[in-house]
Amino acid sequence: MFKRIPGTRDILPQEAAWWQRMEETARLVFSVYNYRQISPPLIEDHALFNRSLGQTTEIVQKQMFLVKNNADIYALRPEGTASVARAYIENNLDKTQGLAKFYYFGPMFRLERPQKGRLRQFHHVGCEAIGSSDPALDAEVIALADALLKSLSISGYQIKINNLGCASDKKELTASLRRKIKDRLPEFCADCRRRFATNVLRILDCKNAGCRSAVTRLDIGEKHLCPDCCRHFTQVRDLLDALKINYQVLPQLVRGLDYYTRTVFEISHPGLGAQDAVGAGGRYDNLIKELGGPDTGAVGFAFGVERLLLAAGIAAEEKISGKLAYIISLGEKARTEALLLLACLRKNGIAADTDYEAKSLKGAMRKANDLGAASVLIIGEDELNKGVVTLKDMRNSQQKEVKREDIIRELKG
Ligand code: HAM
Repeated sequence: MFKRIPGTRDILPQEAAWWQRMEETARLVFSVYNYRQISPPLIEDHALFNRSLGQTTEIVQKQMFLVKNNADIYALRPEGTASVARAYIENNLDKTQGLAKFYYFGPMFRLERPQKGRLRQFHHVGCEAIGSSDPALDAEVIALADALLKSLSISGYQIKINNLGCASDKKELTASLRRKIKDRLPEFCADCRRRFATNVLRILDCKNAGCRSAVTRLDIGEKHLCPDCCRHFTQVRDLLDALKINYQVLPQLVRGLDYYTRTVFEISHPGLGAQDAVGAGGRYDNLIKELGGPDTGAVGFAFGVERLLLAAGIAAEEKISGKLAYIISLGEKARTEALLLLACLRKNGIAADTDYEAKSLKGAMRKANDLGAASVLIIGEDELNKGVVTLKDMRNSQQKEVKREDIIRELKG
């Protein structure tokens, strides 16, 4: 017996209905905000992620799925931002479009230790707006994330925002954290003691309870921000206030990826347990230039779809409530008629199916019910002789005879 690789999931048809609805809803929201779909490949040169996410990030250090091909090393993409940035530059979209707004869906791969809400293959629904440093775009992206959650009927989430500053502000923040943490290092976990040397900002993000409480005593304010970044942060907050978006400023909010500058945000949901971030994003004003493109700003976010599903509280066994017509035949002669009727319904664009398991009438009715069929069409000897079909409306259990030639009109009406 083969088994799934730990940290991967089979999305079975019952759950796929929710995924389809989620995609349809997201497409609608993205198009209202004028974002257009982009689908980069799932594999990229691994160096793209080393360069974009940062050599010392956990993803690059130990979570990449790598595929060797002679001298080349490919990576299964751990996230979408780097690929979209690469596509923007490679396809010269800066020259043809300037500001370009993208959205994407798809699987991401990270070799993590699996637990609830933390998978090795998971899915992102995300967006990137590349080509502007306007703080109004940060507010738009956060408002879009909020609108997406609302349209998926998800409530009870919390939007946390912060501003890391520009590259030199980040250096200043790093230096000031080093000074503050240096004498308190024993209060932090072994991982954080390692991070102190490699990437001190990540200490702020540690989930360890002891580290969290040590971090709250550090007094991290906005002192490291230059006047331009201060103004940017104020404008983003003012716009969010004007748009009546609920958010909380969290000075210790940092992200696990190095490309962020200025605005960062995370959206958490209390229903998710330890892995409570349903989505996250921020501005990455240096990445496009770093990757060989123009010196232009960008901002985006990604939601983890499996975590959206948890936050939506949808039972995986949701019934597909479509418009399926289920045909049941009784006896040999009726069978041929049933198969012809089946073909006729499908030709007319009506979703239809029949029993292929030789079930009894009772068993076939149960199957129709399990499938969430809207109607059942029964053809027996009696119906054959009269040229009719017995039509049962599964929503109200009412039953009537319908002439064979009137069935399409009846089902469509
Ligand atoms: P991220 O925070 O690494 O950001 O991932 C975004 C979201 O993906 C997380 O908030 C979480 O919901 C989900 N996620 C991450 N890792 C896992 C996992 N192992 N299992 C299940 N869900 C997971 C990014 O990837 C950035 N590219 C977001 C972004 C877009 N920033 C700017 N633009």
